[in-house]
Amino acid sequence: ADLDKLQRRPPVVTIMGHVDHGKTTLLDSIRKTKVAQGEAGGITQHIGAYHVDVEMGGQVQQVVFLDTPGHEAFTAMRARGARVTDIAVLVVAADDGVRPQTIEAISHAKAAQVPIVVAINKIDKEDASPDRVKQELTEYGLVPEEWGGDTIMVPVSAIQGENLDTLLEMLLLVAEVEDLYANPDRLARGTVIEANLDKSRGPVATLIVQNGTLKVGDVLVAGSAFGKVRAMVDDRGKRVDKATPSFAVEVLGLGDVPAAGDEFEVYKDEKEARAVANTRVDQQRQSRLQQAMASRRV
Ligand code: GTP
Ligand code: NA
Ligand code: MG
Repeated sequence: ADLDKLQRRPPVVTIMGHVDHGKTTLLDSIRKTKVAQGEAGGITQHIGAYHVDVEMGGQVQQVVFLDTPGHEAFTAMRARGARVTDIAVLVVAADDGVRPQTIEAISHAKAAQVPIVVAINKIDKEDASPDRVKQELTEYGLVPEEWGGDTIMVPVSAIQGENLDTLLEMLLLVAEVEDLYANPDRLARGTVIEANLDKSRGPVATLIVQNGTLKVGDVLVAGSAFGKVRAMVDDRGKRVDKATPSFAVEVLGLGDVPAAGDEFEVYKDEKEARAVANTRVDQQRQSRLQQAMASRRV
């Protein structure tokens, strides 16, 4: 009965790669171009996720980028069984090639069964060698599509903004193949991307909605935290009253600070939600006690 309510949702993309290969610059550059087009002079607030509008074939489609340190996001969330990322962008600097964290990122993405799109970055540099990067990547099972493999590799310069449109198009292409659907017409559930205690606003959590629609006034449990959504802010610092699948919002109103990677769920019944949260608090206390007892015995 739910099937006919399924709608396409934007892909959630995580950027990964070796230190200094240009992950942050690439994300900034994508965001700046797009933000500059959309809202001149707008102040973009950091919420750990960016929503980017991409125009392709006369249609505007959205891509959500997660700005969490790639490896941590993968390991913490994978450990908890949550699969937040739909596509991994693997950034490899064309002047440096495959490095230890490149290999680590490949194995994380493969373990999570997330498709990889390679951005061969820094092609503006004199000693850049995209072909050498491609050659090196084949040793880790990533064979470029133009060499008969199935991995899309896009040469880019994050600093000069070169080929970023192609990269975005490729992400939409992969997203289409991945068949990403969700039902916006149900109570929301998803994952905590980050959370902290703000001195004036109290617990603040960035939540990514994976199914359903999250609304102001919703009662939710995130990890062992319980609360009623008091206000929501999007990636542009704008107040919103709802968040549909794949979108991330900063949420105020939780009674406690959940952990990154915790799952959240909206409940129709406030009493039930409280009970679930209380049970989780008890479980956490018990496991901490068990750990403490175990270390005492050693
Ligand atoms: P960590 O977060 O520390 O792992 O690094 P990162 O992967 O986010 O790299 P970052 O974006 O900080 O870039 C590292 C350095 O490479 C900076 O000095 C950037 O200016 C430079 N850089 C990034 N992209 C390019 C590019 O396309 N061309 C050139 N020439 N330099 C670049
Ligand atoms: Na850096
Ligand atoms: Mg960085």
